[in-house]
Amino acid sequence: MTQSITIASGKGGVGKTCISVNLSIKLAQLGRKVSLLDADFGLANSHILMGCNAKKTLSDVVAGRNSIEDVIEKTSSGVQLLAGGSGLLDMLNLDNKARYQLIRNVEVLRGSTDVLIVDAPAGASDSAITFAAAADRVLVAIVGEPTSFMDGYAFIKAAHVETGLSKFSIVVNMARDGAEAKRHFDKFQAIALRFLDVELTYVGHVPFSAALRRSVVARKPLLATRSEGHRLEDEAFTTIARNLLAAPVNTGNGLRFFDGNLPAEQG
Ligand SMILES: Nc1ncnc2c1ncn2[C@@H]1O[C@H](COP(=O)(O)OP(=O)(O)OP(=O)(O)O)[C@@H](O)[C@H]1O
Ligand SMILES: [Mg+2]
Repeated sequence: MTQSITIASGKGGVGKTCISVNLSIKLAQLGRKVSLLDADFGLANSHILMGCNAKKTLSDVVAGRNSIEDVIEKTSSGVQLLAGGSGLLDMLNLDNKARYQLIRNVEVLRGSTDVLIVDAPAGASDSAITFAAAADRVLVAIVGEPTSFMDGYAFIKAAHVETGLSKFSIVVNMARDGAEAKRHFDKFQAIALRFLDVELTYVGHVPFSAALRRSVVARKPLLATRSEGHRLEDEAFTTIARNLLAAPVNTGNGLRFFDGNLPAEQG
């Protein structure tokens, strides 16, 4: 069965794309067939972090010029990338119909995909919420700052109120260590549970990492490079990947990727 995971955050710049890219590579290293769909339309940059040129993008699909299959880029890490468009105002304002068509068209990836990772736009826009509601799991990335807590909370609230989503996985990015990350999660969870009837699952943290930052500049995903120099980051993504595949799923009856089929596998 093909499963789907949307990465969201509320606040921008907290590391959604870094996490989407490296998590995809980690899942591929763990033996899964992975497709990464960049749904951050207009500001898409997964292909930049992946080091791909992306001649055709999802904006060509939305414009009717190409099919989903035309956009698939097979990357050296084994991940299939579907790049988003960049700098296109109309893509920023993707309408409901285009979003729904895209979710339906993703069906063609079923045979070549065990796990679909969707890099969602920042904020609590209709796009971010639609792509979250269409996935089996939503991973919300936060960092240990009040602005990230507020925006992460606002995203969860909007997704919960508007679509009934109730299960959210949480990853803490840019943490000093596991203990600090867990404290941030506990604080965030206390805020969310005070006001919302939702279930949050802590799946792990990504350490603050100069190597990760350098990998973005070099356009070579950190986990795609073999080195002992990033053992901590590698282990962090292994933990996140395993916990995430075992985390509770949402089973809404709206429009879902792959018709919302439920993963047989857990972990
Ligand atoms: N764990 C980390 N340690 C150090 N720097 C990080 C880490 N994660 C992300 N960054 C840096 O933070 C910046 C933002 O990361 P990224 O582009 O992944 O965020 P984003 O949430 O996708 O942003 P946007 O909302 O614009 O899509 C980048 O410069 C990246 O190198
Ligand atoms: Mg991004």
